[in-house]
Amino acid sequence: MNEEPEGSESAEANVSRETLASVFGATDPQSADERIAQAEGYVGLLSTIGIERGIIGPREVPRLWGRHVLGSAVVEELIPGESDVIDVGTGGGLPGIPLAIARPDIWVTLVEPMQRRVDFLDEVIAALGIRNVEVLRARAEEVDPKGKADIVVSRAVAPLGKLAGWCLPLARVGGLMLAIKGQSASEEIARDAKTVRRLGGGPANISLCGESKLSDPVFPVPATVVAIERVR
Ligand SMILES: C[S@@+](CC[C@H](N)C(=O)[O-])C[C@H]1O[C@@H](n2cnc3c(N)ncnc32)[C@H](O)[C@@H]1O
Repeated sequence: MNEEPEGSESAEANVSRETLASVFGATDPQSADERIAQAEGYVGLLSTIGIERGIIGPREVPRLWGRHVLGSAVVEELIPGESDVIDVGTGGGLPGIPLAIARPDIWVTLVEPMQRRVDFLDEVIAALGIRNVEVLRARAEEVDPKGKADIVVSRAVAPLGKLAGWCLPLARVGGLMLAIKGQSASEEIARDAKTVRRLGGGPANISLCGESKLSDPVFPVPATVVAIERVR
């Protein structure tokens, strides 16, 4: 995760109920309260045992809600109903855990090779009672079966070309890889277009997610997502 100078804000600062409901209650308003509580619990665990165990840096605490949790959850805008989703290199569960909380209709497989992070993820899922997510300790290259997922998401894992080599083989033909990228998105697309094509990817499109929910100051910027369809 990117780091900024330490601030005095707590993880709880500045998140309005409206924002939480618009992100976590959009698909199923009836269970919004339960899912907002899960998101709050996740932020609580990241900012306590997550820091103690080195899953995230202490300087990230003021940005847990905006950049990390909401900035991950809004990517649900690009995920069709009832998708089978793989999160490659999930680390402490980003973006997969916020996506699973926001979208009870999808199934999320969190792929992470490091045992310490896998243990944290297992604890988080059990403590929060998230029912539509599983954890797989593996490198992306080792995941089996390949070619099955509707969506393969990732955030802060590798440059686009290398990422395409890990993510596209996991998607079914017609499925999408969604890579959360920052300002480097266009540059990475231009640089790695040939590699992506060689790996069976179609044209790359950039989407900004969360724009309609930006009335809350907790969102610094919309999430910039590179979407590539597996065409063969
Ligand atoms: C910088 S962290 C990002 C974690 C998380 N996605 C986030 O946004 O906070 C990169 C993660 O990718 C994982 N990783 C590295 N190589 C991998 C591979 N070949 N397959 C799957 N995950 C990998 C690392 O263990 C690490 O947890």
